[in-house]
Amino acid sequence: MSNFQTLVWRKTSRTLRLLDQRRLPNKESFLDCGTLQEVADAIKTLAVRGAPAIGVAAAYGVVIGVQEEIALNRPLTKAGFDRIIDALAATRPTAVNLFWALERMKKTGAAGLENGLSDAGLRDQLLRDQLLRDQLLQEADLIFAEDERDHHLLGEHGARLVPEKARILTHCNAGALACADYGTALGVIRAAHNAGKEIQVFADETRPLLQGSRLTAWELLQDKIPVTLICDNMAAHCMSKGMIDLVIVGADRIAANGDSANKIGTYSVALAAKAHNLPFYIAAPTSTIDFSLANGSQIPIEERDPDEVRFFGRKRTAPAAVKVYNPAFDVTPARLITGIITEKGVYEPDRLAQIESKYP
Ligand code: MRU
Repeated sequence: MSNFQTLVWRKTSRTLRLLDQRRLPNKESFLDCGTLQEVADAIKTLAVRGAPAIGVAAAYGVVIGVQEEIALNRPLTKAGFDRIIDALAATRPTAVNLFWALERMKKTGAAGLENGLSDAGLRDQLLRDQLLRDQLLQEADLIFAEDERDHHLLGEHGARLVPEKARILTHCNAGALACADYGTALGVIRAAHNAGKEIQVFADETRPLLQGSRLTAWELLQDKIPVTLICDNMAAHCMSKGMIDLVIVGADRIAANGDSANKIGTYSVALAAKAHNLPFYIAAPTSTIDFSLANGSQIPIEERDPDEVRFFGRKRTAPAAVKVYNPAFDVTPARLITGIITEKGVYEPDRLAQIESKYP
């Protein structure tokens, strides 16, 4: 367990409480989402972020969307349910965990909606919708619980790859802040730390939105795991000075051939690791693997607001009129990846197909 809660479902108010990551590390404040729009906005604006956490938040977003219809005495139709799913699916395009979680919610919803009540009275329809909402909540709770369980398993598998006193470089935040709990890359780091390996972490600050300096540094300090913050452009230098033993990062979507999308800048870190003969691991649950995509060129890459690059925090650091390119993710080719650490074990990128055939 980490020392904070990224997302909590509040039973009595039927709201989703999020630790507002836009305000970290300066303020630990919470955002209570009680409408579908609020959940969608929280995902879009990165109040909640990181592939697995986005999936869990969206699952609860579906419950909240259905609850809103019930509160308005509006019987749920298939079209209405699809609109809820579509609103959440439109928030961010790259992390496949979002679509994976929504697909599970869609299946649960479809089963409930099949109990057609076209000739029933309003009261019966609302009773059916309440039952459906409760089934959807059960599924969202299950997605949350599986996320916690899988990341602990993944952490144990990964920790075996970490040598004593290892100095580990990570990029962005793939921690408990990016999941229901524990984390993927930081899950491995937590497990190695808890096993007494005396590890040290180097955290890239991760421009433009500083997930490394704002979030990873904050999260590791909470757990008293030794961490040194560096700017993104210092990683290769640290490697050349023999200051890094291995790299572990998360992923937003992994194609069937092992090509992996993660926060922009990950590709450069992987190239630098290759040049210095350092192991480069991706840590991600199998829900991040998109077997429908043959390779990474098919992964949709989110482009975000140019002002994220023109500004550093709230301060403008570039001319307002300058043209900006702001892709939020890049794709690291499988050939640069030593292994993919999942809850089902560690796989070389070209062996991912084994997962699909073993655990269809
Ligand atoms: O834009 P973000 O902050 O959602 O990007 C997050 C990342 O790139 C993470 O490394 C990835 O989602 C893995 S989180 C376990």
